[in-house]
This record gives sequence, C-alpha cells and structure tokens, in this order.
Amino acid sequence: YSLKGFRAAFLDFTDDPFYTTETESVRYLPDGLLVVEQGKVKELGEYQTLQAKYSQIEIIDYSGYLISPGFIDLHLHFPQTEMIAAYGEQLLEWLNKYTFPTERKFQDKTYAQQVASLFLDELLRNGTTTAVVFTAVFPESVDAFFTEAQRRNLRAIAGKVMMDRHAPDYLTDTPESAYQDSKELIQKWHNQDRLLYAITPRFAITSSEAQLRLAGKLLAEFPDVYLHTHLSENQNEVAWVKELFPDCNGYLDVYDRLGLVGERSIFAHCVQLTDLEFNRLSAAQSAIAFCPTSNLFLGSGLFKLHQAKKSEYPVKVGFATDVGAGTSFSLLQTAGEGYKVTQLQHQPLSPFQAFFLLTLGGARALSLDDKIGNFDTGKEADFVVLDFRPTPLMQFRNPPQLPPTLDAFSEQLFTLMILGSDRNIRATYILGELACDRQNNPENPLNK
Ligand code: GUN
Ligand code: FE
Repeated sequence: YSLKGFRAAFLDFTDDPFYTTETESVRYLPDGLLVVEQGKVKELGEYQTLQAKYSQIEIIDYSGYLISPGFIDLHLHFPQTEMIAAYGEQLLEWLNKYTFPTERKFQDKTYAQQVASLFLDELLRNGTTTAVVFTAVFPESVDAFFTEAQRRNLRAIAGKVMMDRHAPDYLTDTPESAYQDSKELIQKWHNQDRLLYAITPRFAITSSEAQLRLAGKLLAEFPDVYLHTHLSENQNEVAWVKELFPDCNGYLDVYDRLGLVGERSIFAHCVQLTDLEFNRLSAAQSAIAFCPTSNLFLGSGLFKLHQAKKSEYPVKVGFATDVGAGTSFSLLQTAGEGYKVTQLQHQPLSPFQAFFLLTLGGARALSLDDKIGNFDTGKEADFVVLDFRPTPLMQFRNPPQLPPTLDAFSEQLFTLMILGSDRNIRATYILGELACDRQNNPENPLNK
C-alpha cells in the first residue's frame, strides 16, 4: 500500500466556534502536510516536522492554496437542476408552476441518470463531497441517483420522495406504495459503499396523515436510516398545514406526533419556527438545513441562525444550497448569502463559524463526525483545494502567501465567502483520490 502527502495551508475545526473561542476550535496550519493512507487521514501536521517523518512519500504540492475538509450540503434536489432560476413566484405557486411539471420527467430512468450525472459533477466542481438529496417520487429516480453517486464514490444521503396529495396525479403515490417502495430502496441502497438512505416525505402538505404515519413506522423499523423533509419555510405553507392538521400544536408537532422527529432527522428551512419549536428540535437532537439563497429567492424570510445556535437550546445546523429554489451549487456563495442574512438581523456570522458549518458542523448534523468533517486521524480523506486568487480582483484583494496569524487569515477567508464561487475550487478529492480538477489550469501540478 502507498502513502500520499499533500502540502498546502490547512483549515479545519476540532470544536464548535459558536460555543468556544476560535483559538480553541480552529486548526490552522499555514504550511502543513496531510498524509493519506488508503483513502483515510493518517496524519496532519506542520510540513517541516512531518516531511522528516515521512521522507519517502510522494508529495503533491499545493503551496499557496488552502485545503479544507470537503463541503457538506445538507439539502438539495437533483431533479430541480434544470429549473434553477425560475422567475417570480413564492413557494406554493413555484411548486405548481415550475417544480411539479419538471419532476414528472424523472419517471424516465435514462433521463434521470443523465441529470444525476451532471448534478453530481456540479457538486464536485463546487467542492461538495457529501450531500443530502431529494430525488423525485419515482423509485427509478432514486436508482438513477444512487448509481451515479456510487460511481463517483460520493458520500450521499437520498431517498424516494413520498407525496400522496395536493399535487398532480402524475406525481403522486399512495401511503402503501410509498412505504413499500421506500422499504425496497432501503434494502437495496442503504449502506452500499458510502450511500445512506433517507425516508423523504416532501412536506406536510403533500403527505396525508396516513402516509406520514407509515413513514414513521418505516423509520422505527430502520433506526439508522435518516428522515429528510421540509419544515416551516413560508407563511402560507404554515397556515395551510394548520388547516390540514387542526389538532396539532404547530407544524413541527405534525411530524413529531408521527414519530418523525429524532436524532437522524433533517429539516430544511425552518424560517418560521416558534421558540418552542426550536427548543423541541434541540431536545430531539434533530438538524436544520440553513438554505439562505433559497429563502431569499422564494421570499420566504430570514432564518434565525442565532436562535438555533443559542447555548441553552443548541440545535445542530449546517448549510444547504437547496437547488433549484437555491440559486447556486456553490456552498461558498451560500455561506456569503448566509452572512448577509445574519447581518440583516444584526448578529453577523464570522468566517470561521461559516466554515465550521460547511464542514464539521454539517458532519455533526448528520451524526457522521466519526467519519468526515475534519482531518482527525482515521477520517475519510474528502477534501477541497481552495484558490484564493483565481481572478484579478481576488489577486488584488489577497496576498500570494496566506498570513500566519488567525486574525489575518480570518480576513482572507472572508473574501472566499463574499467573492468566491466555483472559480475558487481548484480541485476536489474523494477518499484521497482526485475527483475533479479545474480545467485548463496549467499551474496545477496534476496537469504538468
Ligand atoms: N417544500 C416542499 N417542496 C419543496 C421544494 O421542492 N423546494 C422548496 N424550497 N420547498 C419545498
Ligand atoms: Fe428543498
């Protein structure tokens, strides 16, 4: 077997900078060496020290670049790739006018596989190495997605969308068929290589109580499977859920009463949550996917990140692009929009907090922090090589060498989330192997 070394600056987190000081939580090495053995992290340390210890190994030199753990996208929809940037509507109208007709096409497995392929390549081009993904209502669309994810060795969590009402006939299942199809898909895909299954009722409007109840039954039968859905995104949506479930104490309670709120539950949006609902998510150890570009694009509102990260009732949170209501596959751009959302509430997110949410925070939200999220020994070597100077403006704004102190580095890091995009992703590695390389970059040692 062989060892491989990567020389660069490194950033990762050993703790949560929302609750501890940055010196305690941030690990920053201006000149480091990452040693990878069979796809896993063997050691990360100062270049000078480790180079002597591993004097025989092949070293890939990314000096001047920053290596971060791969980004984690907690919520997005692969069938919505082609309808990104659909004009003029808010959630419920947007679903009827654009989303449902588009998702109909994913009955065709060949088409679904073509789009899945493009979608997954786009994730890698943006430095995303773990994603939690909605497919469509058709089991074929799940097979298509997992087939392509497995081919790329990507860590992906996905499942069949369950929806049995308030949608066109061509897009609905039944409580029983959704239960049966999901069960078969769990048995087929869950824990195959790096793939994991999520039971995926679309939201409380498009699933009857009977369907949600069967989703809860399935979750109880497969306790290590995830639950992935939308929650409290839009005011009209919340009002309609109240009419549909008059006996429940709010939107989250609809899911809670049916056994869907637990440690492996991921709720997208949560813009309209009450204080009590935040507290309940904290107690249940559920996770929130913060989708700033989507919440702005659909006019849904401002997610209260500060409330989720309160120390009394901490809720697990990570970033999500929510493509196609989200407007970018780039989690750097998503973090930049997240910053603006917190600025509007006068509680600005720091650059280190943002990068925590993109990496270890996302891994904790998925209870996968024993496998991914930072460069601790034994973790899977999924990482992204970041270029601070891909354009004249960013060259003007950022010096050729990254600064040695945390404070100065924090300023440079901030430019990545405010000015950054896919241009800043120089390369993406999956299990220590190059998975995506920026094209036509003659400076890349891998192109020489
Ligand atoms: N709520 C239910 N379905 C959807 C969807 O496809 N996108 C978003 N943003 N919210 C939803
Ligand atoms: Fe969504």
